[in-house]
Amino acid sequence: MVDVSTDNIYMDNAATSYPKPGEVIDAVCHHLSTLSSNPGRSAHRLSLEASRALFDARQTVADFFGASDSRDVVFTLNVTEALNLAIYGILRKGDHVVTTSMEHNSVMRPLRHLESEGIIELSVVHSFPDGSVDIDGIAKRVKQRKTRLLVVNHASNVTGTIADIKAISRVKGEALLLVDAAQTAGCLPIDLKEMGIDLLAFTGHKALLGPQGTGGLVINTTRECILPLKRGGTGSNSEFEQQPDFLPDRLESGTANGCGIAGLARGIEVIQTMGIDNIRMHEKKLIEIMQEGLKEIKGIRIYGPMDAERQVAVISINIEGISPSDVGYALDRSFNICVRTGLHCAPSAHRTIGSFPQGTVRFSMGIYNTEDDVEKAIDALTWIAEH
Ligand code: ALA
Repeated sequence: MVDVSTDNIYMDNAATSYPKPGEVIDAVCHHLSTLSSNPGRSAHRLSLEASRALFDARQTVADFFGASDSRDVVFTLNVTEALNLAIYGILRKGDHVVTTSMEHNSVMRPLRHLESEGIIELSVVHSFPDGSVDIDGIAKRVKQRKTRLLVVNHASNVTGTIADIKAISRVKGEALLLVDAAQTAGCLPIDLKEMGIDLLAFTGHKALLGPQGTGGLVINTTRECILPLKRGGTGSNSEFEQQPDFLPDRLESGTANGCGIAGLARGIEVIQTMGIDNIRMHEKKLIEIMQEGLKEIKGIRIYGPMDAERQVAVISINIEGISPSDVGYALDRSFNICVRTGLHCAPSAHRTIGSFPQGTVRFSMGIYNTEDDVEKAIDALTWIAEH
């Protein structure tokens, strides 16, 4: 077995956050050892306790994102499932959809599938080379057509570029705004109402510090029109063979990931204790140090806005004459630095920034990264560039 326990500098938090806080690990273990009965199914005390834990977690998520009712939080396996639920659940034959060229394949693939089946018409608004969204371009497409859905990420998983969701919401017209918060939930403040978001898809295992296998869709409007991705047991209305029509049961079938969701709720509490503004300040500092250091390296190309105000702690680079995978290999094997290289499941984003098809070397920092980690990463890149 590879010893990965010591001396690693983990800079792959955009893929999943690591390490997880002790509180999250304890919450998962506590749930597994004491609460692992099925929530909402049985009337015995253990099941009732498990239901209470699930209810409390739903409330924690609802409060965190400013949802008016915890029933508007639908737990899913990850953000991909949440995005699929919204996209397939809302769109009908003839609908028009607007999205941007910076989206991840978790948005692009379901939309391209619906387009290729002749169900929707899709407009992909080209973003700028630093990854920022062309809001005027979106406004034009939405105005020209009767658009049903507008899908944008809150920050790019390739360049970290933050989208001005409030401004985008102002141009959405009658369309529903679905926001992919994979890279921002837990490191940027999000308030559904204040930002004008109709649907928010989030993952639990990145900046929210929870376990993999957690995520959800938070519904601000449009409660009635979303069809389920799957149907089955909910523990409610069991006398009927039809799916219940109330939330969250309509959209949540099968046994929930109880221990994972308990960990997710604890992750959110850890963030609340730290303060999301403090987290943002820490990550901005790391971005600034990283960008200053990178600028000094010969032959390096840095993608994205190069402005800590306008990006989350995700920085993509390339070194002239060396493939991203070779740089990533050297960082891992010679310097114990973990990054993600290639296309990051976002080929259209790489086309937009000019790094398709080879992709980039992506550093993504989290709350546990230090200034020392960043200095070591810069030293390692300097060495690689020189050798
Ligand atoms: N979407 C995740 C990433 O960007 C997995 O790495």
